[in-house]
Amino acid sequence: MSALALIFFIVYATVRALQNQPSEVPGTHYISPLYSPYLPHLFHTFGISLPGLEKVLPNGSLGWALSPALFIMWVPAGFRATCYFYRRVYYRAFFTAPVACAVDAKPKSPLIALLGEGQKYWGEKVFPMVLMNLHRYFFYMAALFIFLHVIDLLTCFFLPDYSGLRIGVGSFVILADVVLLSLYAFSCHSWRHLLGGQVDCFSSCPLNEARGHAWERQSLLNTKHGLFGWISLFWVIIADIYMTLASQGVIKDFVFYSNTWKGIFG
Ligand code: FES
Repeated sequence: MSALALIFFIVYATVRALQNQPSEVPGTHYISPLYSPYLPHLFHTFGISLPGLEKVLPNGSLGWALSPALFIMWVPAGFRATCYFYRRVYYRAFFTAPVACAVDAKPKSPLIALLGEGQKYWGEKVFPMVLMNLHRYFFYMAALFIFLHVIDLLTCFFLPDYSGLRIGVGSFVILADVVLLSLYAFSCHSWRHLLGGQVDCFSSCPLNEARGHAWERQSLLNTKHGLFGWISLFWVIIADIYMTLASQGVIKDFVFYSNTWKGIFG
Protein backbone atom coordinates (compact mmCIF):
# COMPACT_ATOMS: atom_id res chain seq x y z
CA MET A 1 0.00 0.00 0.00
CA SER A 2 2.78 2.44 0.96
CA ALA A 3 4.67 1.48 -2.20
CA LEU A 4 1.59 2.20 -4.34
CA ALA A 5 1.09 5.57 -2.64
CA LEU A 6 4.72 6.55 -3.26
CA ILE A 7 4.62 5.42 -6.91
CA PHE A 8 1.38 7.33 -7.46
CA PHE A 9 2.86 10.52 -6.02
CA ILE A 10 6.13 10.25 -7.97
CA VAL A 11 4.26 9.68 -11.27
CA TYR A 12 1.74 12.46 -10.55
CA ALA A 13 4.39 15.05 -9.56
CA THR A 14 6.63 14.18 -12.52
CA VAL A 15 3.79 14.46 -15.05
CA ARG A 16 2.65 17.77 -13.58
CA ALA A 17 6.18 19.17 -13.53
CA LEU A 18 6.73 18.23 -17.17
CA GLN A 19 3.48 19.92 -18.22
CA ASN A 20 4.94 23.39 -17.57
CA GLN A 21 1.54 24.58 -16.31
CA PRO A 22 1.92 26.41 -12.98
CA SER A 23 -1.90 26.66 -12.66
CA GLU A 24 -1.97 30.34 -11.79
CA VAL A 25 -5.57 31.26 -10.94
CA PRO A 26 -6.70 34.47 -12.70
CA GLY A 27 -7.56 37.33 -10.34
CA THR A 28 -5.54 35.81 -7.50
CA HIS A 29 -1.94 35.09 -6.47
CA TYR A 30 -2.61 31.34 -6.25
CA ILE A 31 -0.18 28.95 -7.87
CA SER A 32 0.22 25.18 -7.69
CA PRO A 33 2.45 24.12 -4.76
CA LEU A 34 4.34 21.89 -7.20
CA TYR A 35 5.61 25.09 -8.88
CA SER A 36 6.25 27.04 -5.67
CA PRO A 37 8.58 28.89 -5.23
CA TYR A 38 7.82 30.01 -8.79
CA LEU A 39 11.25 30.83 -10.25
CA PRO A 40 10.11 33.13 -13.12
CA HIS A 41 8.45 35.44 -10.55
CA LEU A 42 11.37 35.16 -8.13
CA PHE A 43 13.96 36.01 -10.79
CA HIS A 44 11.77 38.84 -12.06
CA THR A 45 11.49 40.26 -8.51
CA PHE A 46 15.30 40.40 -8.25
CA GLY A 47 15.60 41.90 -11.74
CA ILE A 48 17.30 38.81 -13.18
CA SER A 49 16.38 38.22 -16.80
CA LEU A 50 17.10 35.00 -18.66
CA PRO A 51 16.77 35.72 -22.38
CA GLY A 52 16.02 32.61 -24.39
CA LEU A 53 14.41 30.87 -21.44
CA GLU A 54 11.66 33.35 -20.63
CA LYS A 55 8.37 33.20 -22.47
CA VAL A 56 4.81 34.42 -22.07
CA LEU A 57 2.43 31.64 -21.09
CA PRO A 58 -0.98 31.18 -22.81
CA ASN A 59 -2.66 32.97 -19.84
CA GLY A 60 -0.42 36.03 -20.43
CA SER A 61 1.80 35.56 -17.37
CA LEU A 62 5.56 35.17 -17.25
CA GLY A 63 6.95 31.66 -17.61
CA TRP A 64 9.90 29.70 -18.92
CA ALA A 65 10.26 27.55 -22.04
CA LEU A 66 11.42 24.74 -19.73
CA SER A 67 9.16 23.92 -16.79
CA PRO A 68 10.45 25.83 -13.70
CA ALA A 69 9.15 22.96 -11.54
CA LEU A 70 11.97 20.79 -12.91
CA PHE A 71 14.52 23.19 -11.39
CA ILE A 72 13.02 23.07 -7.89
CA MET A 73 11.54 19.61 -7.44
CA TRP A 74 14.95 18.04 -6.61
CA VAL A 75 14.80 19.80 -3.21
CA PRO A 76 11.51 18.31 -1.92
CA ALA A 77 12.27 15.04 -3.75
CA GLY A 78 15.74 14.79 -2.16
CA PHE A 79 14.37 15.82 1.24
CA ARG A 80 11.69 13.12 1.21
CA ALA A 81 13.87 10.46 -0.44
CA THR A 82 16.53 10.80 2.28
CA CYS A 83 13.98 11.20 5.11
CA TYR A 84 14.41 8.57 7.84
CA PHE A 85 10.69 7.80 7.78
CA TYR A 86 10.38 7.40 4.01
CA ARG A 87 13.60 5.37 3.92
CA ARG A 88 11.98 2.83 6.21
CA VAL A 89 8.91 2.79 3.97
CA TYR A 90 10.66 2.31 0.65
CA TYR A 91 13.49 0.09 1.87
CA ARG A 92 10.82 -2.34 2.98
CA ALA A 93 8.40 -1.74 0.10
CA PHE A 94 10.85 -1.78 -2.81
CA PHE A 95 14.10 -3.36 -1.59
CA THR A 96 12.67 -5.72 1.05
CA ALA A 97 15.80 -4.87 3.01
CA PRO A 98 16.25 -4.44 5.87
CA VAL A 99 12.80 -5.70 6.89
CA ALA A 100 13.43 -4.69 10.51
CA CYS A 101 16.19 -3.60 12.87
CA ALA A 102 18.94 -6.20 13.28
CA VAL A 103 17.42 -8.43 10.58
CA ASP A 104 19.84 -9.17 7.76
CA ALA A 105 18.77 -8.34 4.23
CA LYS A 106 17.74 -11.34 2.17
CA PRO A 107 20.66 -12.42 -0.04
CA LYS A 108 18.43 -12.08 -3.13
CA SER A 109 16.94 -8.68 -2.28
CA PRO A 110 17.14 -5.95 -4.96
CA LEU A 111 19.15 -3.83 -2.51
CA ILE A 112 21.87 -6.46 -2.25
CA ALA A 113 21.83 -6.73 -6.05
CA LEU A 114 22.32 -2.95 -6.19
CA LEU A 115 25.23 -3.07 -3.76
CA GLY A 116 26.92 -5.79 -5.78
CA GLU A 117 27.78 -9.46 -5.61
CA GLY A 118 29.06 -10.66 -2.25
CA GLN A 119 27.93 -7.49 -0.51
CA LYS A 120 25.75 -7.19 2.54
CA TYR A 121 23.71 -4.37 3.93
CA TRP A 122 26.02 -2.04 5.84
CA GLY A 123 23.47 0.57 6.83
CA GLU A 124 24.33 3.94 5.35
CA LYS A 125 28.11 3.56 5.56
CA VAL A 126 28.99 2.64 1.98
CA PHE A 127 28.04 3.96 -1.47
CA PRO A 128 25.30 4.39 -2.60
CA MET A 129 23.48 4.34 0.75
CA VAL A 130 26.02 6.77 2.26
CA LEU A 131 24.31 9.47 0.16
CA MET A 132 21.42 9.29 2.66
CA ASN A 133 23.64 11.33 4.99
CA LEU A 134 22.95 14.33 2.77
CA HIS A 135 19.60 14.54 4.54
CA ARG A 136 20.62 17.38 6.89
CA TYR A 137 21.62 19.52 3.88
CA PHE A 138 18.27 18.80 2.22
CA PHE A 139 16.67 19.92 5.48
CA TYR A 140 18.45 23.31 5.27
CA MET A 141 17.22 23.76 1.69
CA ALA A 142 13.70 22.61 2.61
CA ALA A 143 13.65 25.20 5.42
CA LEU A 144 14.56 27.89 2.88
CA PHE A 145 11.79 26.64 0.57
CA ILE A 146 9.28 26.81 3.42
CA PHE A 147 10.29 30.43 4.00
CA LEU A 148 9.59 31.14 0.30
CA HIS A 149 6.29 29.22 0.54
CA VAL A 150 5.28 31.46 3.46
CA ILE A 151 5.91 34.54 1.29
CA ASP A 152 3.79 32.97 -1.49
CA LEU A 153 1.11 32.22 1.10
CA LEU A 154 0.97 35.82 2.34
CA THR A 155 0.41 37.09 -1.21
CA CYS A 156 -2.61 34.75 -1.49
CA PHE A 157 -4.52 37.00 0.94
CA PHE A 158 -4.18 40.11 -1.28
CA LEU A 159 -5.89 41.37 -4.42
CA PRO A 160 -3.75 40.84 -7.56
CA ASP A 161 -2.45 44.44 -7.53
CA TYR A 162 -2.12 44.51 -3.70
CA SER A 163 -4.82 47.20 -3.55
CA GLY A 164 -6.66 45.35 -0.79
CA LEU A 165 -7.51 41.98 0.74
CA ARG A 166 -8.96 38.93 -0.98
CA ILE A 167 -9.61 35.79 1.04
CA GLY A 168 -10.92 32.79 -0.84
CA VAL A 169 -11.05 29.02 -0.39
CA GLY A 170 -7.75 28.81 -2.28
CA SER A 171 -6.06 31.01 0.37
CA PHE A 172 -6.89 28.34 2.97
CA VAL A 173 -5.88 25.50 0.64
CA ILE A 174 -2.42 27.09 0.37
CA LEU A 175 -2.40 27.88 4.11
CA ALA A 176 -3.05 24.21 4.92
CA ASP A 177 -0.30 23.20 2.50
CA VAL A 178 2.27 25.45 4.19
CA VAL A 179 1.22 24.38 7.70
CA LEU A 180 1.42 20.67 6.82
CA LEU A 181 4.76 21.04 5.05
CA SER A 182 6.11 22.99 8.05
CA LEU A 183 4.90 20.31 10.47
CA TYR A 184 6.58 17.66 8.34
CA ALA A 185 9.86 19.58 7.92
CA PHE A 186 10.15 20.77 11.52
CA SER A 187 9.37 17.37 12.98
CA CYS A 188 12.45 16.13 11.09
CA HIS A 189 15.15 14.18 12.95
CA SER A 190 17.83 16.51 11.56
CA TRP A 191 16.11 19.54 13.06
CA ARG A 192 15.81 17.63 16.35
CA HIS A 193 19.54 16.95 16.28
CA LEU A 194 20.27 20.58 15.45
CA LEU A 195 18.18 21.71 18.44
CA GLY A 196 19.40 19.32 21.10
CA GLY A 197 22.19 17.20 19.66
CA GLN A 198 25.80 17.11 20.97
CA VAL A 199 24.82 18.62 24.32
CA ASP A 200 25.85 16.55 27.33
CA CYS A 201 23.94 18.59 29.89
CA PHE A 202 20.96 20.83 29.16
CA SER A 203 21.23 22.65 32.50
CA SER A 204 24.89 23.70 32.15
CA CYS A 205 24.10 27.19 30.78
CA PRO A 206 21.04 29.28 29.72
CA LEU A 207 21.64 28.52 26.03
CA ASN A 208 21.71 24.75 26.61
CA GLU A 209 18.64 25.07 28.81
CA ALA A 210 16.77 26.84 25.98
CA ARG A 211 17.97 24.18 23.55
CA GLY A 212 16.73 21.50 25.95
CA HIS A 213 13.23 23.02 26.07
CA ALA A 214 13.12 23.37 22.28
CA TRP A 215 14.34 19.78 21.86
CA GLU A 216 11.68 18.48 24.25
CA ARG A 217 8.89 20.28 22.38
CA GLN A 218 10.22 19.23 18.99
CA SER A 219 10.41 15.63 20.25
CA LEU A 220 6.62 15.69 20.67
CA LEU A 221 6.23 16.71 17.02
CA ASN A 222 8.84 14.16 16.00
CA THR A 223 6.65 11.27 17.22
CA LYS A 224 4.10 12.23 14.52
CA HIS A 225 6.67 12.72 11.75
CA GLY A 226 5.41 9.84 9.59
CA LEU A 227 1.82 11.03 9.83
CA PHE A 228 2.82 14.56 8.81
CA GLY A 229 4.84 13.03 5.98
CA TRP A 230 1.83 11.28 4.44
CA ILE A 231 -0.73 14.04 5.02
CA SER A 232 1.54 16.77 3.65
CA LEU A 233 2.36 14.62 0.61
CA PHE A 234 -1.28 14.11 -0.31
CA TRP A 235 -2.27 17.66 0.48
CA VAL A 236 0.20 18.81 -2.18
CA ILE A 237 -1.83 16.78 -4.71
CA ILE A 238 -5.17 18.08 -3.42
CA ALA A 239 -3.90 21.69 -3.59
CA ASP A 240 -2.49 21.12 -7.07
CA ILE A 241 -5.80 19.69 -8.33
CA TYR A 242 -7.71 22.59 -6.77
CA MET A 243 -5.43 25.20 -8.41
CA THR A 244 -5.52 23.41 -11.76
CA LEU A 245 -9.33 23.22 -11.82
CA ALA A 246 -9.67 26.83 -10.63
CA SER A 247 -7.13 28.07 -13.20
CA GLN A 248 -9.10 26.37 -15.99
CA GLY A 249 -12.41 27.79 -14.75
CA VAL A 250 -13.80 24.31 -14.01
CA ILE A 251 -14.44 25.42 -10.42
CA LYS A 252 -14.84 28.93 -9.07
CA ASP A 253 -12.81 30.00 -6.06
CA PHE A 254 -15.38 30.98 -3.43
CA VAL A 255 -14.44 34.38 -1.97
CA PHE A 256 -15.13 34.93 1.75
CA TYR A 257 -13.94 38.50 1.82
CA SER A 258 -12.68 41.02 -0.71
CA ASN A 259 -12.18 44.74 -0.23
CA THR A 260 -9.77 47.51 -1.16
CA TRP A 261 -7.63 49.30 1.44
CA LYS A 262 -9.82 52.34 0.90
CA GLY A 263 -12.94 50.30 1.66
CA ILE A 264 -11.32 48.77 4.74
CA PHE A 265 -9.76 51.88 6.27
CA GLY A 266 -11.64 54.70 4.49
S1 FES B 1 13.69 12.63 9.04
FE1 FES B 1 12.00 12.86 7.75
S2 FES B 1 12.29 14.82 6.93
FE2 FES B 1 14.03 14.56 8.19
